[in-house]
Amino acid sequence: KSPFIKTTSKNTPIVTRKEEYKKLEEAIGGWDRLMLLTAPIGYGKTTFMNQIKMSPPHDIKYVIGFNAYEPPKQIMKDITAKLPFFKKIFKGKPTQSSFGAYLEGVLQEEKLLLIFDEAQDYENDVFRWLRIINDYCDTVFMLFIGLGGLEDKISAHASLRDRKCKMLTLNPLRIEDLEDIVMQRIKWVGGEPPIPFTQEGIKRLCEAAQAIPRTLLDKGQTIIEYCAKKDIQVIGVEQVEEALGANKPRTEKIVVSPEKQRTPAPSDSFYEYLSPTQQEIVSFLLEREKASISEIGQAIGSDIRSTGSLIRKLRGQNPKEVERKPQVPYPVVIKRGKERRLGRLQGVFGLSDNARRLLSKTG
Ligand SMILES: Nc1ncnc2c1ncn2[C@@H]1O[C@H](COP(=O)(O)OP(=O)(O)O)[C@@H](O)[C@H]1O
Ligand SMILES: [Mg+2]
Repeated sequence: KSPFIKTTSKNTPIVTRKEEYKKLEEAIGGWDRLMLLTAPIGYGKTTFMNQIKMSPPHDIKYVIGFNAYEPPKQIMKDITAKLPFFKKIFKGKPTQSSFGAYLEGVLQEEKLLLIFDEAQDYENDVFRWLRIINDYCDTVFMLFIGLGGLEDKISAHASLRDRKCKMLTLNPLRIEDLEDIVMQRIKWVGGEPPIPFTQEGIKRLCEAAQAIPRTLLDKGQTIIEYCAKKDIQVIGVEQVEEALGANKPRTEKIVVSPEKQRTPAPSDSFYEYLSPTQQEIVSFLLEREKASISEIGQAIGSDIRSTGSLIRKLRGQNPKEVERKPQVPYPVVIKRGKERRLGRLQGVFGLSDNARRLLSKTG
């Protein structure tokens, strides 16, 4: 098993973001109830959200994270599931329009933090509805996480325009942090760090990652695949450079220049444009002709709801995602009918012929 698989599942080792976490606590302490964090793909946004969920900021009683776009109904369900039973029971069942008042009654002085990952995918009505909750309930804090541009989207949105949104940032990770990630990940897959690397080899890899955790994983994977092929046992500085050098043409394709972004075309290497979890799904489906949502979810360690949402995206059913990623030849995944699984008829999904062809071309 590779130490460089891309995953943000719960047991993945991480280095905690102390500075950023402190800034978040300060913002909450200063009653900044709307907060915004944007960074490109792979900078560690989702991982930071997981860190916050695992250790709720000082003073915050409940933290609830949403992985991907959720309609208000689902948001209400997830929130109420988290509230203690004895408090809910006297307040009755809320509707979408009474939810703000309901929450304020249940929470009283207790603070709730809602985190919306991939917030660039949220519909305007959801923002409008969240604004109303924000109005009703002054112990609800919201952190919107997403790609660059989210900021404009939120400030352009009529109902949030007049609200002050506190900006948070993710700092670049230090070389030592990246080294720490590699060492921890080797241990995580049962190895004895730094083996198969030398300490200097790891350092060289971390320098090449340019402070971006996802780049670290990409390059690390490239290196161990290269060394496995060449039967290299000990990976030092030279081997790292050789492996990354040999792979230059391909890694350069990943860098998207602004011009390319404007005149893009579906690309052979579209894999690089998928999110890490989408990549896991695609790799899984490369090996299987078809699978149900629950089978895919199990394989990638994600719950059914977020798996469903990822499959929708891969099928090209999320217009924003399609617009944002013109390099991806949608649909990547198609429905391949229904099959009986565990006694129930379930939809099964597989790669589109085109996606499979493009992926096998690049290897
Ligand atoms: N602080 C961190 N410590 C360890 N690994 C990290 C950290 N931040 C990100 N990663 C790893 O880098 C990859 C990309 O991170 P992710 O949080 O998914 O980025 P984003 O959500 O910004 O696209 C993931 O596989 C994750 O495990
Ligand atoms: Mg993410």
